[in-house]
Amino acid sequence: MRRCHLASKAVIRVLSGIQPSGELHIGNYLGAIRSWVRDQYEFDSFFTIVDLHAITVEHSPEELRKNTLRLAMTLLAAGLDPEACTIFAQSHVSAHAELSWLLECTATFGELSRMTQFKDKGRSDESIRAGLFTYPALMAADILLYQAERVPVGEDQRQHLELTRDIAIRFNAKYGQTFTIPQATIPPLGSRVMDLAHPAKKMSKSSQSTAGTIFILDPPETIAKKVSRAVTDTENVVRFDPENKPGISNLIELWCAATGNEPSQLVSQHRMYGELKKTVADALIALLEPLQRRYQELQKDPGEVSRMLKLGAEKAKFVAEPTLELAKANMGLVAP
Ligand code: TYM
Repeated sequence: MRRCHLASKAVIRVLSGIQPSGELHIGNYLGAIRSWVRDQYEFDSFFTIVDLHAITVEHSPEELRKNTLRLAMTLLAAGLDPEACTIFAQSHVSAHAELSWLLECTATFGELSRMTQFKDKGRSDESIRAGLFTYPALMAADILLYQAERVPVGEDQRQHLELTRDIAIRFNAKYGQTFTIPQATIPPLGSRVMDLAHPAKKMSKSSQSTAGTIFILDPPETIAKKVSRAVTDTENVVRFDPENKPGISNLIELWCAATGNEPSQLVSQHRMYGELKKTVADALIALLEPLQRRYQELQKDPGEVSRMLKLGAEKAKFVAEPTLELAKANMGLVAP
């Protein structure tokens, strides 16, 4: 049997994605976006706003439109540079939906049922959407279409990356070499930022309460207030101990991720929780200040975002479409 092969890549490819399901928070920034900003100068990088993933749960069309454009602007403010990387909306590149179907036909019910994100969002709920169940196949398509080797994500995406690898390895073995096997790149600090009000829960865009979520466009006084009200414990001893002191340890880790310092440096300088919170809030405010300033500037030219997404989709299609054609051919689908 004759099988097509892609020419070997001269560069290392990076792909990652983010859902336009709400405002970007400090966990998204420290867990993912900050790595994207670094990666764009080192690797051939693609970053996608995964609007098709955002419709796997109840949503408002108006909010989705607004969130998509606001997220694109926030990514630019965070330091992504359309000259250095490709930024695009997932729905603008139809190859994502198409490859997703091919991969759904290779993934098993058992594999998809074991995904913790699916279990958490209500596996037993009859009204849960089929798209939420097959979500990981679409995510695998996002990554595999670009032959990405590195996928910079936070800790919560590890299981999805494992499944993507399994799908790709199986596909290659069954139908011939088609996809590069990707790897998650997870930062050592800030890869799992916890909710300040509920330190046992991950900080999340879709959290019911905003008190525990630091949005990256929160004004300094809001950040200071949220940190000062962060849930800690009654021991009143400053110690880095994520298991027994999740609240205070989350604040320490946030400070470390923001400043690049070790926990011991913060611990040795503070005896009282109140003082420590003040130092943490100051570090987060300083970290986000340049980004917030750039966001204000970008708002003056909202057309810039649409232009960038249009160009990004063209660049993305150029890479994604040959992979889709290869996958179809290798699966035995006859070319038109
Ligand atoms: P999403 O939109 O939930 O999150 C975007 C990125 O932010 C990271 N993240 C966090 N990191 C640290 N602490 C937190 N509390 C925190 N919350 C979120 C996530 O790990 C992620 O890297 N399924 C993905 C989107 C996606 C994708 C892809 C990612 C779709 N296709 C292809 C990579 C490659 C998601 O829902 O991310």
